[in-house]
Amino acid sequence: MERKTVKVGFLGMGTVGSGTLRILEMNREQVAVKAGSEIEVKKILVRNPEKQRDVDVSLELLTTDPAEVLQDPEIDLVIEVMGGTEEARRYIEEALKQKKYVITANKDLMAAAGSELLLQARECRRNIYYEASVGGGIPLIRPLKHSLGANKIIRIMGIINGTTNYILTRMSLYNMDFEGALAEAQEKGFAEQDPSSDLEGRDAAYKLSILAGLAFNSRIHIGDVYTEGISGISKRDIFYASELGFAVKLLAIGEELPGGLALRVHPTLIPRTHPLAAVHNENNALYVVGNAVGEVMFYGLGAGAMPTGSSVVADLIDAARNINYGIEDGIMEIDFQDKAVVPVEELLSSFYLRLQAEDQPGVFAALATAFGEDKVSLDMIIQKRSTEGVAEIVLVTHAVEERFFYRALDRIKAFPTTRKINSVFRVIEK
Ligand code: NAP
Ligand code: HSE
Repeated sequence: MERKTVKVGFLGMGTVGSGTLRILEMNREQVAVKAGSEIEVKKILVRNPEKQRDVDVSLELLTTDPAEVLQDPEIDLVIEVMGGTEEARRYIEEALKQKKYVITANKDLMAAAGSELLLQARECRRNIYYEASVGGGIPLIRPLKHSLGANKIIRIMGIINGTTNYILTRMSLYNMDFEGALAEAQEKGFAEQDPSSDLEGRDAAYKLSILAGLAFNSRIHIGDVYTEGISGISKRDIFYASELGFAVKLLAIGEELPGGLALRVHPTLIPRTHPLAAVHNENNALYVVGNAVGEVMFYGLGAGAMPTGSSVVADLIDAARNINYGIEDGIMEIDFQDKAVVPVEELLSSFYLRLQAEDQPGVFAALATAFGEDKVSLDMIIQKRSTEGVAEIVLVTHAVEERFFYRALDRIKAFPTTRKINSVFRVIEK
């Protein structure tokens, strides 16, 4: 059968677009074999055609007019790697209306409007592929959708933001400060255009909502993901955590509990022997527990031009095959329903607490009593040598319902001997 060349239009040619284009050039033959035909890049939308790029692009391919990509009847497939939500959404909707397949790396958009866009795609008898939106080059979307589809997933837990993992690694292993490590992550192209999305945990929350939707067959509302970022983590906490045998990581955790789904992103102390503690720099990892398969872990580069481009090209191969062979794969996410979500205050967690208190007799006893009144049991407690009459106390609790820990903490804050609550982090033992 004579197959036509699949023609592609790009929306954006920054970090991810450049990596994608480089892979298409580097692996042209093998991509064509897998796709079932040649792939041709026909047009590329950018903001500034004069800009220096990380990849050679002929000026004739570049445009600042979205219609040259979206309205061109020859373009079969649109790759959205421009980021942002409003314009990107409008362009994807238009591409679907024009009967084009869509590939996107945009987790913000898929988390906010994925259900609606996928519904439109099904109505248009097209599809949206989004492997690159989570975990850079690590296959996560397909495994959760297909390879682990036989399982009831009990828990997913992972490091799914490269920028924050890079910063925490640089702070803990290379003694760098926060700002220097962030500047490096920006230089290397991992950070979002607005890095507060990485630092405040929103990027990881978007990704968790996408993964949890597939893991738990549920529509997830981004507001249901409890989110805390890494800005409260100091080198002092990293040092004390290490003394106690823990690494500090920004974890995204999704679980299906008897009362509903528990979805959260927060800095977490994990034992240094835990496999996630060995995930450094921009690497990401996702640990999945299924009721048939048991424990599985996915690991690799979670951001950057070539790893993310690798996922985009994999989607491109799938889409091209569907185009070439007229296959419709029905979009399973449309059949997912909402599930109840358990509020974070009702979840069980252990806590790390660092505080400063006056170095007086009875301070330790008062702390223990305040926690005891709310049935918070202490696992470890250490006092550092005091300076100028102020002692630094670091403790770790056993697991407790979160609201009881915070009720006890409110009483401790009000003690006349308490100078400052420096930091509170959750601790996960396994
Ligand atoms: P980027 O380097 O900032 O590139 C964005 C590209 O889109 C640029 O080429 C820019 O044009 C173009 N663009 C942006 N807004 C535009 C507009 N309104 N009209 C026309 N062109 C526009 O971004 P990126 O890092 O590649 O990220 C792209 C997407 O992939 C985002 O959704 C991001 O979250 C996601 N993602 C990124 C990574 C990563 O490692 N960077 C990994 C996974 C997913 P100019 O070049 O002319 O400025
Ligand atoms: N800013 C994201 C990260 C890019 O640091 O993980 C990959 O999605």
